[in-house]
Amino acid sequence: MRLMPSRMACCETYGERGIMKTSYQIGVIPGDGTGPEVVAEGIKALTALSRTSGFDFQFETFDIGGNRYLREGGLLADDEIRRLKAMDAVFLGAIGHPDVRPGILEREVLLRLRFELDLYINLRPVALFEGVDTPLKGKGPGDIDFVVIRENSEGLYAGGGGFFKKGTPDEIALQESVNTRKGVERCIRYAFEYCRNRGEKKRLTLCAKTNVLIYESDLWRRVFYEVHEEYPDIAVNYQHVDALCMWMIKNPEQFDVIVTGNLFGDIITDIGAIIQGGLGIAAGGNINPEGTAMFEPIGGSAPKYEGLGQINPLAAICAAQMMLSYLGEKEAANRLLAAVKQVVNGKIASLDAGKMGYSTSEVGDLVVGCLA
Ligand code: IPM
Ligand code: MN
Repeated sequence: MRLMPSRMACCETYGERGIMKTSYQIGVIPGDGTGPEVVAEGIKALTALSRTSGFDFQFETFDIGGNRYLREGGLLADDEIRRLKAMDAVFLGAIGHPDVRPGILEREVLLRLRFELDLYINLRPVALFEGVDTPLKGKGPGDIDFVVIRENSEGLYAGGGGFFKKGTPDEIALQESVNTRKGVERCIRYAFEYCRNRGEKKRLTLCAKTNVLIYESDLWRRVFYEVHEEYPDIAVNYQHVDALCMWMIKNPEQFDVIVTGNLFGDIITDIGAIIQGGLGIAAGGNINPEGTAMFEPIGGSAPKYEGLGQINPLAAICAAQMMLSYLGEKEAANRLLAAVKQVVNGKIASLDAGKMGYSTSEVGDLVVGCLA
């Protein structure tokens, strides 16, 4: 394994660790709903690329998700966590099943993976490609091109809290937001580093709510400006989360990199997904810059479309693209990105499920056909 000189040697694309091997061990979790269909297309693209590159992939499939839970009761075994940790990267389809009560799979599989693998960065690029429709009137590809860095291991997702006098008129429900100095600082440092390496704008926006969350947002704000002293080349600004939601719609061109906590990041990246053309294209990475990383289409399991061959695989293919970039395979990552850009620019009718003019696997074939 060849590690890049700097621990966080990232660049234009996606926060890579720069492993650079001749053979990569990839843990694959197809998961639920349309997960397996889109993962198959991601693997198709990766395999096609590897045929003309100096590396290959060893895929190891993990049967994790709602289907197994309903069949056998198991959620995520300690042994699976150990094996996933040892992978160069993990490729995830979707976790979520209509027959499983909300919260179980999310907490016990998805969030547990994030916590146990300490995937403390959730990296979500928001880029509108040429030829893709955005609901934002008058905005084009040059206007929508930024990255959200979401803290992925703390905040309200830490799961602390409880009920008191549950089910009575005096019931109290507490939900605690955990923000550690260490957790906030490592995320903010990553964001500065990422921003420095991303491109020309070099502008980092902190998104929080200092006017109301006077403890947690205060910590975020203090750490942000402290760390900024080490990055004088980066222009910084601060926006309250509610205002930032407005600006993402009105003036998205102002953004380069946004850094924020876990729940705000969850919410604003759904706005990001829709302005970049929807869940058919939006991908993300759950990254431990010192460990492994897990890449996923952010659209979820879409049970309504399961088995129909109508779901758009491009989000999963973009997740695979981010994974290549993370692994340090920049040339292959760029080739895949160029192929996706060709496919969305006039080849498919729409990014929406059922309206692409092609089936899921035909869209995968189109991408492979466009690989230069
Ligand atoms: C996401 C999802 C998850 C989250 C859910 C499924 C737990 O919405 O990855 O954005 O809230 O983080
Ligand atoms: Mn979400």
